[in-house]
Amino acid sequence: MLDKKVSELLNDQVNKEFYSAYLYLDFSIFYEDAGLDGFANWYKIQAQEERDHAMLMMQYLQNNGEKVTLEAIAKPDKVLDDKLHVLELGLEHEQYVTSLIHAIYDAAYSVRDFRTMQFLDWFVKEQGEEEKNAEDMIKKMKLFGDDAKSLYMLNSEMAARVYSAPSLVL
Ligand code: FEO
Repeated sequence: MLDKKVSELLNDQVNKEFYSAYLYLDFSIFYEDAGLDGFANWYKIQAQEERDHAMLMMQYLQNNGEKVTLEAIAKPDKVLDDKLHVLELGLEHEQYVTSLIHAIYDAAYSVRDFRTMQFLDWFVKEQGEEEKNAEDMIKKMKLFGDDAKSLYMLNSEMAARVYSAPSLVL
């Protein structure tokens, strides 16, 4: 059995990760409509990764005998209006998710729940990578986004992303 607060936060996080998947699918649709199919691909794969995060959280709760409750997933509420701004919204969202993971870690730490802390270590690292990816994309878009040929190349780079299953195995 996990501490009640830790369990509740992990359960909430299952929903938040599915929301992230939903949000990034919305990003993918935005880029598809804008003719940037590479960026659309990148975010579609990101959505798959977010779903994986939700599934890992769910499995961890189940492995610890906790009941998982699925709540409604909120409608993506960001206004997607510009190819650079959407990337900035992505970074903002990842920073928010990092704060959520840290809050769960903090709750686990306060009850000396070392198992949950170890489980969350992977997510702490993952958030570092996701924030870096978001920052890199913003940098590149600022550098190359206004030049048609460079944007075409950047879009091709994003098109090359392929899905790979998470390295964390429970
Ligand atoms: Fe599940 Fe983008 O972090």
